[in-house]
Amino acid sequence: MEGIITLRQPRQLVFGNGCSEQIVHDIPGLGLKRAMIVTSAPVHGLVLPLCEKLKERGIQVTVSNVLDREPTLEMAASGIETCRSTGADAVVGVGGGSVLDLAKLIAALCDGRQKLTEVFGIDKLHSRSLYLACMPTTAGTGSEVSPNAIILDPADQSKKAVVSRHLVPDAAYIDPLLTRTVPPAVTAATGMDALVHCIEAYANRFAHVITDHYALEGIRLIASNLKKACDNGLDITARANLALGSMYGGLCLGPVNTGGVHALAYPLGGKYHIPHGVSNAVLLRHVMRYNMQAAPKRYAAIAAALGAENRKNERETAQAGLDIIGRLSDACQIPAKISEIGIPFADLEEMAKSAMTVTRLLNNNLRQITYEDALAIYRSAW
Ligand SMILES: [Fe+2]
Repeated sequence: MEGIITLRQPRQLVFGNGCSEQIVHDIPGLGLKRAMIVTSAPVHGLVLPLCEKLKERGIQVTVSNVLDREPTLEMAASGIETCRSTGADAVVGVGGGSVLDLAKLIAALCDGRQKLTEVFGIDKLHSRSLYLACMPTTAGTGSEVSPNAIILDPADQSKKAVVSRHLVPDAAYIDPLLTRTVPPAVTAATGMDALVHCIEAYANRFAHVITDHYALEGIRLIASNLKKACDNGLDITARANLALGSMYGGLCLGPVNTGGVHALAYPLGGKYHIPHGVSNAVLLRHVMRYNMQAAPKRYAAIAAALGAENRKNERETAQAGLDIIGRLSDACQIPAKISEIGIPFADLEEMAKSAMTVTRLLNNNLRQITYEDALAIYRSAW
């Protein structure tokens, strides 16, 4: 029997085509009066009708557009300032993972009791006073159901994580219809990120039977629908299955979280500003190849969920899973090498040093990753 697991999830989890409309009734129904909507320009067309309907219900609405790239300290400070000046009692994030992470931090830090730099790390945040709802427009990061927010610290060009139960939103509205206009490259990268969440939760030192179910079902859904959604963004069945797979991945993030792929992906985002999904997608097959020998049985189960047939033994079945990841990545036009996304070979040592600081994730990895191992993985991925 596995150890103890604690699941912290939104009190209200709404899923289904068209479900985003429900927020128009829920916000006034909760007695809330002033909503700050955190969003980005590409999804403005989805947000405006909701804003109009909220206003018709008597809600004062402020829309704060943020850049749809990984949030920085300045972006958070500016969002907190705006939120404070409007006297908002609710924050609603509508967008990709970057937007949702920012909305979460704004809702948590608006009361001014703590500064952002004081809450980096695990369980440093004491409270959140504002109501928080998240509505993802990608499938995705799983931020809408997770306790995590990742932010870029320009001081050392590194990603910092805020992990706290207070960052789990009060409500998540996962509406697959909102993802229909996501372009193929973003669909591929964000979908691969969700797949990595599931794989790293299942092949994890703290894996648990409860999250195993989420993870394997997420792997199955994403592997069998990602290419369909990349080929035809209007395939709503594929979009809904991806959204569900992404949600399952997100539900693993709090209790189990990710491992070596994410740890090695952070330096690609921090210094080179490669989007989170792309960083993870490009490294996935290389880190999986390194990890497989540590847990052939687990990787064989992952392979089965990916659609591989049983082979002679677990190692061969696991290898068949890795082959499927390779074919899926190629079919979705994920770069096979980090040299293809502008990473200089001369920087790999510095990146390996930086990856070694992400101990909160490296500790979850089934096979120990030393500095030399990280460097060897980067070199194999270059
Ligand atoms: Fe991720």
